[in-house]
Amino acid sequence: MALEFHFQRQESSPTAAFSGKAGERLIAARRAGHGTPRTLVGLGSREKYSADVLRKAAAEAARDLAGRGVRKVSLEVSAWPGPHPAEAARIAAESIRLSQYRYTVNRDKSPDHPLESLFVVCPNAREQKSMAADLAEISAVDDGVDIARDVSNLPGNLGPPMKIVQIARKLGPAVRTRVLDRKACERLGMGAFLAVAKGSHAPPAFLVLEYRPRSGARRRPIVLVGKGVTFDSGGISIKPADKMEEMKHDKSGAAAVIGIFAMARQLKPRVPLIGVVPLTENLPGGNASRPGDIVRSLSGVTIEIKNTDAEGRLILADALYYAGRFATRSGKPEAIIDLATLTGACSIALGDVYAAILSNNDALARSLELAGESCGERLWRLPLHEAYERLIKSTVADVQNIPEGRLAGTIAAGMFLKKFLADDSVPWAHLDIAATAWDAKGRDGRPAGSTGIGVRLFHEFLKARADI
Ligand code: BES
Ligand code: ZN
Ligand code: ZN
Repeated sequence: MALEFHFQRQESSPTAAFSGKAGERLIAARRAGHGTPRTLVGLGSREKYSADVLRKAAAEAARDLAGRGVRKVSLEVSAWPGPHPAEAARIAAESIRLSQYRYTVNRDKSPDHPLESLFVVCPNAREQKSMAADLAEISAVDDGVDIARDVSNLPGNLGPPMKIVQIARKLGPAVRTRVLDRKACERLGMGAFLAVAKGSHAPPAFLVLEYRPRSGARRRPIVLVGKGVTFDSGGISIKPADKMEEMKHDKSGAAAVIGIFAMARQLKPRVPLIGVVPLTENLPGGNASRPGDIVRSLSGVTIEIKNTDAEGRLILADALYYAGRFATRSGKPEAIIDLATLTGACSIALGDVYAAILSNNDALARSLELAGESCGERLWRLPLHEAYERLIKSTVADVQNIPEGRLAGTIAAGMFLKKFLADDSVPWAHLDIAATAWDAKGRDGRPAGSTGIGVRLFHEFLKARADI
């Protein structure tokens, strides 16, 4: 079944019943000489056309076709009427591929059958060669996205810290993994991470991933830090029951980092990568941290835990400091990027369209923003002005883990994290992916559940630096 793309008001409209407006689909009868029916997909007006329009149209059409029992589709590059047909075909092919993800970890098979294959019909051999190379790269990236989705979608009972570690270990040998257990973290003095881990019987794990390129291994690494709260009940500051089940995806930052290493294992970027992934559950219980507790973090900075539900910043405090120090052994990191489902306030500020980026470095922030624009995982920068620091001032410790009142929740969390950088001159960006990591319903042809955000973004970032 050929998937053709048409603009509205195109002169030679293939059928009178089809206008090409956005969201329109027509499964046309068999064409003389062709054994298979064609699907026409409306892309709306030329003026409003964008990569996002194409992504949505292709993904929705593919889901629609799969739902009708179609197993194989083909996409004709030359059917594209715009100036860059091959580029459009690549975007459409990727979007179709991403739309077919199903979370089947707990089922033998998905109740609805995804498409099995997508043929891309190229006009000539040269086009075929470059398309094949691009699609191989896209498929490596999207394997990473799907692994990130699998990790993030795992329910709390089936995805405790050690399970996530097992998944990461499967990425070897190109990716080295090391795990610090509770004892090792105690010895190092990770009081903030352990304050969260105390409430759960599931053993925590502080996972470190390492990828070294064959050449360029002496370059300074990029460190990726991912929040890995395998379930966030809020702890003693317990969350309301409504939608609490969604907090199984509070490990989406960790999932993104693991997905990025899965991608790196295949695409072999030229820059060394380190992953720092603190994994723990956040539960109430007889041994859980209480509001008012004071702990000493790995950096030595003491923290008053005023709310046990602001646990992400506690585990990231130790992870960020570790990340900065880790790298001093192999040279300072070139940059530290953390990904975290950190604040509900981020969804209030930006909704599920943009994730927030907070950074101490304009160039790093800008290149991540640009990467986000080009792959559709958009970032909007929020400030880290020092005047916000008073929000997290504690009367009894160096800092407190929540701001007074409800002011600037996402920024306050960023200001808190900034305190735990081992070296403030190392470029750092914090991506708050609360709201963008999870899509309960599945919009725009995306599957419901985890979005796998972060993997495509980081691929685009590396590509723009010519590291892939
Ligand atoms: N994991 C949550 C943030 C979150 C909320 C992620 C919704 C995804 C969707 C985080 O640990 C949290 O609970 N943050 C609190 C902080 C508050 C206590 C200062 C929040 O945002 O309510
Ligand atoms: Zn929380
Ligand atoms: Zn959380």
